[in-house]
Amino acid sequence: MPLADKFGRQITDLRISVTDRCNFRCVYCRSANPENHMAEHALLEWEEYERLARILVSMGIHKIRVTGGEPLVRPGVEDFVAQLKALGVQDLSMTTNGHLLAERCDRLVAAGLNRINISLDSLDRDKFEQITRTKTFDQVLAGIKAAQASPLRPVKVNAVLVRGINDGEVEAFAEFAREHDIVMRFIEFMPLDADRTWTRDQVVTAAEVHQRISARWPLIPVIHERSETARKYRFVDGRGEIGLIAPVSHPFCGHCSRIRLTADGKLRTCLFSKEDHDLKFMLRGGATDREIGDAIIAIVHKKEKGHRINEADFIPPSRTMVFIGG
Ligand code: 5AD
Ligand code: SF4
Repeated sequence: MPLADKFGRQITDLRISVTDRCNFRCVYCRSANPENHMAEHALLEWEEYERLARILVSMGIHKIRVTGGEPLVRPGVEDFVAQLKALGVQDLSMTTNGHLLAERCDRLVAAGLNRINISLDSLDRDKFEQITRTKTFDQVLAGIKAAQASPLRPVKVNAVLVRGINDGEVEAFAEFAREHDIVMRFIEFMPLDADRTWTRDQVVTAAEVHQRISARWPLIPVIHERSETARKYRFVDGRGEIGLIAPVSHPFCGHCSRIRLTADGKLRTCLFSKEDHDLKFMLRGGATDREIGDAIIAIVHKKEKGHRINEADFIPPSRTMVFIGG
């Protein structure tokens, strides 16, 4: 029996955060001040992630995304990708900030990675440095290039738009997609930033992005799977693709098929869950696979109907993005 929640949504996708550390400090995610990261022993060991993934694959998970923090900062992640592939995961992907990708891309491909998403929030060097609070623009572009030259194509590039910071670049990103034959995805800013500066008027809606791009280059919708977060469009007259991800203006919770495992072994049923569920405790307390599987079924049963960003009484989760995994 595949995993399903009480609303009848089948749970087939798992996101595994392998570290809460990151070598960037993006303004929409992390604090300017150095934050504490979890102690080494708090993180699961690779064998522990692999055991949980094996149990979850046996319960119907067939899509796994490896995330962080920044997944490439944890040594051994390529071997972990290979272990996941050996479990028979059909669709194995990674989200990365791209900084270390150029030098690691070949090993990830050899390990069996199928797809990659790279964050790039500005095409302007100064702005990129201002957003990420690093000087790594060239390395990230090199990472995108390496991925484009690899079997990981079509590469997806993610930009989180924040009004007043990078909303002027919508058309430039669209041109970037066309020029390099990239899937350029625009993500609405969500209230998951460490500094708690999110306000609704900073959100650049998918409708605005669509309107601005299609005014320059006519777009045609591309068929998508129901559980996909992005609404996808092709250009009538050229290469590249646009993906619009609208968690704030058009929540897609009704077709959500995802659960998330945090770096410290907690299962989360939603990005915005108020609580998470400790599997590390079970792993280290001698629980059998059967017991862990039963616990997972019970946890999935509690999956929230949807997030409540648009409700008057919305409270952001205590874990911000870097501690959840994108
Ligand atoms: N809102 C929207 N997306 C975010 N990400 C990180 N923080 C936020 C936020 N507050 C995105 C990153 C990356 C993925 C891991 O999550 O840009 O694409
Ligand atoms: Fe930026 Fe991703 Fe790192 Fe957050 S986890 S600071 S979004 S690169």
